Amino acid sequence: MNPNLSQLQAYPFERLRQLFASITPNPTFRPISLGIGEPRHATADLIKKAYCDAIMDPQGGLSIYPATTGLLSLRRSIGNWLERRYGLQLDVETQVLPINGSREALFAFVQTVVNPSQHAHDKQPAVVVCPNPFYQIYEGAAFLSGAQPYYVPSDPARNFAQDWDSVPQAVWARTQLLFVCSPGNPTGAVMPLSEWEKLFALSDRYGFVIASDECYSEIYFREDPPLGGLEAAARLGRAGFKNLVSFTSLSKRSNVPGMRSGFVAGDAALIKQFLLYRTYHGSAMSTVVQAASIAAWDDEQHVRDNREQYRAKFAQVTPLLTQVMDVALPDAGFYLWAKVDGSDTDFARDLFTLYNVTVLPGSFLARDAQGFNPGASRIRMALVAETAECVEAAQRIVEFVQSRK
Ligand SMILES: Cc1ncc(COP(=O)(O)O)c(C=O)c1O
Repeated sequence: MNPNLSQLQAYPFERLRQLFASITPNPTFRPISLGIGEPRHATADLIKKAYCDAIMDPQGGLSIYPATTGLLSLRRSIGNWLERRYGLQLDVETQVLPINGSREALFAFVQTVVNPSQHAHDKQPAVVVCPNPFYQIYEGAAFLSGAQPYYVPSDPARNFAQDWDSVPQAVWARTQLLFVCSPGNPTGAVMPLSEWEKLFALSDRYGFVIASDECYSEIYFREDPPLGGLEAAARLGRAGFKNLVSFTSLSKRSNVPGMRSGFVAGDAALIKQFLLYRTYHGSAMSTVVQAASIAAWDDEQHVRDNREQYRAKFAQVTPLLTQVMDVALPDAGFYLWAKVDGSDTDFARDLFTLYNVTVLPGSFLARDAQGFNPGASRIRMALVAETAECVEAAQRIVEFVQSRK
């Protein structure tokens, strides 16, 4: 067996299942889960219709093998979207590839980029730099590529920005890949241009690749849409996006997590190698999904409607919770990342026991590194259910926190 498999950690939801295993929640309350970050708004009809039409297409549908590059029409739709959204003009022949949701691609990209034997001469492993807290795929992908993750804590005093300055030079020297997650999961923080500038300078100096995970980019609460990684590079005059790729997904933007569709875009040299890897890995997107994806990328109205639903929900829920805990409206995303008194696991367990509300303990989303766990004493609440349910959950949480005092 691949020995790196033994380094994989239990997924946060598995740890939550174990935490709750022996509990019978209070039966007077119906269960409400803010635990899993899975979109629950309805999928727009125009996407479902394009999907059904494509299945029935006698020339295509399910009867042909798709190409890993995807249809040119899909890459053009994505190119047009990148232009509308970020003012970017990419060569869709060489700088864009469809992916089956960002999760598989984030994982596969690490396998494409990392050279685990590069630092063998001094018996040091290659490094993949991750934010902390973070999306657990980054860590698993690093381990399975033969690299070691290095966790960079987010700082609550600076809108949860990563403390990139704390990374020792010796670590940067072994870094082959760095993950940015902006808007962040779980913090919702959007990385500003000044930090991109810092990371580009480090990437130029040490030669590492930046993978920018942007799957929450279309759900935001500020006036300006979140800055994208490629957009930041273009603003800083980095034509060609050297050593940079971004991952964008339809899952959250268009409420189609079950469709598995997104794209990767950026440095053509990296995309070329990634395409080679994907051809062998077998990651071509069904033409049916491609047709539905074209419909989704070409339409913004359903995205605006979706964003408005989140805005209305957060406007109702956040003020309730701020009465009893340190929590604020994030820049973007669909999570509240709140501070609680005492242990986050005790909080989640007691809330579930007494009020039948599920939240995710923050420490499950982060690692102990540099002497502390930046998720400790925090909880993540995913406001994905409909507004009335989220408001009811918030009211129960308020009661619960007041009863603990
Ligand atoms: C930060 C982050 N990146 C990537 C993903 C993967 O999303 P998908 O594979 O649906 O595009 C998720 C899903 O929750 C996420 O939270």
